[in-house]
Amino acid sequence: MVEPLEVTTLGEPMVVMDPLSAGPLRHVGTFEKHVGGAEHNVAVGLSRLGHRAGFAGSLGDDEFGKEILAFLRGEGVDVSRLVLDVEAPTGVYFKEWRALGKLRVYYYRAGSAASRMRFETLDLDYLLSGTFVHLTGITAALSENCRDLVERLVLAANERGVRVSFDTNVRWQLFNGRDPREVLRPLVERADLLFLSEEEAELLLGGTDGERVQQARREMRAKTIVVHRAEGAFAVEDGGVTERAGYPVEVVDTVGAGDAFVAGFLSGRLRGWDTGESLQLANACGACAVTVQGDVKGLPTEEEALGLVRGHKGVER
Ligand SMILES: Nc1ncnc2c1ncn2[C@@H]1O[C@H](COP(=O)(O)OP(=O)(O)OP(=O)(O)O)[C@@H](O)[C@H]1O
Ligand SMILES: [Mg+2]
Repeated sequence: MVEPLEVTTLGEPMVVMDPLSAGPLRHVGTFEKHVGGAEHNVAVGLSRLGHRAGFAGSLGDDEFGKEILAFLRGEGVDVSRLVLDVEAPTGVYFKEWRALGKLRVYYYRAGSAASRMRFETLDLDYLLSGTFVHLTGITAALSENCRDLVERLVLAANERGVRVSFDTNVRWQLFNGRDPREVLRPLVERADLLFLSEEEAELLLGGTDGERVQQARREMRAKTIVVHRAEGAFAVEDGGVTERAGYPVEVVDTVGAGDAFVAGFLSGRLRGWDTGESLQLANACGACAVTVQGDVKGLPTEEEALGLVRGHKGVER
């Protein structure tokens, strides 16, 4: 018998073109091809940590779509609800390393297969079969039909008592002048477990300190709100604020750190760990992710991540 899923997720995975040299892309001749995308990275992260994760959605029926499908399958993610659409392409994005290590990304994803996903075609029983359904603000920003899909999926999960894990992941380029708060606020209010970077907490909750986040939480459904930054993270719950420092590491590529962090925190929760331990595992996964080029290459195995957590001195600030 197939083991039931612990986490399901849905979103847009893409092919990622990583330049092998810094500077404006017009002068870059060689790239390394990777795969990535927030929810895809979380699914891979969870699978590496030993959990059963399912990834649903649409990709183009093209070379890149088949590459991503094969990659996810190879990582042990359930792809039984991932469809290949013959009418639209798989999205692609390029990274660009500008002066002083500043990263810029260029998306080629408008009109992609994923942007055409609709709530009506989802297998709800599948998506709501786990302990968590994980969603992000990226999918909500892709198109009007995707926004509708995420809103209705969150409502359906709320109704069925399946916990919604939501990473706000504000990507300004996808909002095209729209106010991200208007799109994301209804989702933020209905999530059970909420992840934000400091900038996202400032934008969506009106501040980054524990007190302000606690105040915002009182008007929301979330039992737990996690705010993260390179140096560590804190969680706000009924019992108060729990903070854990991160792991100092040599940074190679920060893209995907937040996704690794989410995978680690969800893994902690699924193991029945307390909030402090879950934050430590999340920090360990985020730290591993930034030490390697590419969105998913640095995601740790269970052995690696647990080794880091056990060796941690438990520094609290
Ligand atoms: N330079 C770093 N050194 C060690 N750990 C890091 C570093 N950067 C990130 N991390 C770990 O990853 C977590 C998430 O990082 P961050 O807050 O930068 O994510 P993010 O901004 O959501 O990234 P993205 O959305 O691009 O994946 C941090 O809380 C920390 O645990
Ligand atoms: Mg993020």
